[in-house]
Amino acid sequence: MDIVSIIEKKRDKKELSKEEIEFFVKEYTEGNIPDYQAAALIMAIYLNDMSKEETANLTMAMADSGEKLDLRDISDIIIDKHSTGGVGDKITIILMPIIASLGIPVAKMSGRGLGFTGGTADKLESIPGYRVDLAIDEFKKNVSEIGISLITSNLNLAPADKKIYALRDTIGCVSSIPLIASSVMSKKIAAGANKIVIDLTCGNGAFMKNKHDATELAKTMIKIGDKTKKEVRCVITSMDEPVGYAVGNQLEIIEAIEALKGNMPKDVEEIVFALGEQILIMAGRAKNEDEATGMLRVTIENQKAFEKFKELVAKQGGDVSYIDDVTKFRQAQFIEPVTAKKSGTIMEIDTEKIGKVASYIGAGRLTKDDKIDPEAGIVINKKLGEQIKKGDIIAYVHTNRKDKVEEAIKDIQESYITSSLFKKNTKTVIEVLK
Ligand code: URA
Repeated sequence: MDIVSIIEKKRDKKELSKEEIEFFVKEYTEGNIPDYQAAALIMAIYLNDMSKEETANLTMAMADSGEKLDLRDISDIIIDKHSTGGVGDKITIILMPIIASLGIPVAKMSGRGLGFTGGTADKLESIPGYRVDLAIDEFKKNVSEIGISLITSNLNLAPADKKIYALRDTIGCVSSIPLIASSVMSKKIAAGANKIVIDLTCGNGAFMKNKHDATELAKTMIKIGDKTKKEVRCVITSMDEPVGYAVGNQLEIIEAIEALKGNMPKDVEEIVFALGEQILIMAGRAKNEDEATGMLRVTIENQKAFEKFKELVAKQGGDVSYIDDVTKFRQAQFIEPVTAKKSGTIMEIDTEKIGKVASYIGAGRLTKDDKIDPEAGIVINKKLGEQIKKGDIIAYVHTNRKDKVEEAIKDIQESYITSSLFKKNTKTVIEVLK
């Protein structure tokens, strides 16, 4: 077998065999195939697509490319949640303590972020003392003792995905349905999950820009689940505006704390409930969505979810006094209002642009060695569909980079499109696919 014939086959729109896919994944991960040949194959896949069979084979080859986590000693049902990415996404930090407070074990590894803001692990690290880098034994011990642990992976899980994803990022090949589906699913399978719920984002701040493509991606992941004997459910959610109001690591933690106390922005609540319902049903704890909704509501209202989050923070070394009193978090040096340039109804928010602003004012990293500023970010003040007048405050920039304030204000102003028309309220949760 040789890589040139595999590239030629995909270039000519033919289906690759399981052996050919395994050969590519193994040899590329081990450094025996150079980036230019891998790039040619990935581009051919991007342009010519993959069958469901090929996508499942790519998923399993990537899942098998490194270490695997075995969580069966914790429970037979290992549930994991994944988001295909967006701006202001703090859902894991809110949802997972809620789920754990209902007695379902949560053993979750989350990534650090490249791009808009940090990943869940970076966000949690903005709580003073919180350790995300626990060894696997401590991770499992915490789940046994308190029912939850949220860490970043220090295992070599799906290294093929890491390498292929980094390559895709540099050659304009991220937004491909088979490549995203196999990337997400390989990580979840390597992390030991057998029931997976995906927050599949769709809109101008997501990889999938429209409902048609999001639905295709959902169906592909569900199919991979069938072929690999994992139960997969996808909740398609709108990413046409940032999730909630806060964008940026510490700002999102504060919003998550408020949400766990029961003060959830409407869009956050919709997403948390839709994902939570599917998890409770998959875990066999609720018969249907209505029953699940009731359970979620009770555990939030009686503060059990909030208490579980505090228990998690304490267990992982975090200073719980910050959770009880969020005014203890040190704020960024410059907090500048952004005012509207025009009056009207907010018809569109360029979510990706908001994400990019958050990143360059300090909340994200462009290379993996960049340092994140936990205090930096944006607080949205006006959301889609709201009526605004010229001069109203639409957002606040939080940064320690004075040199970036002016550019950030201008970019946020340009991200808001208003019109004299009326905008119908749309739902954040678009569809649930199983
Ligand atoms: N999220 C992932 O984990 N992988 C992708 O390819 C895209 C989004």
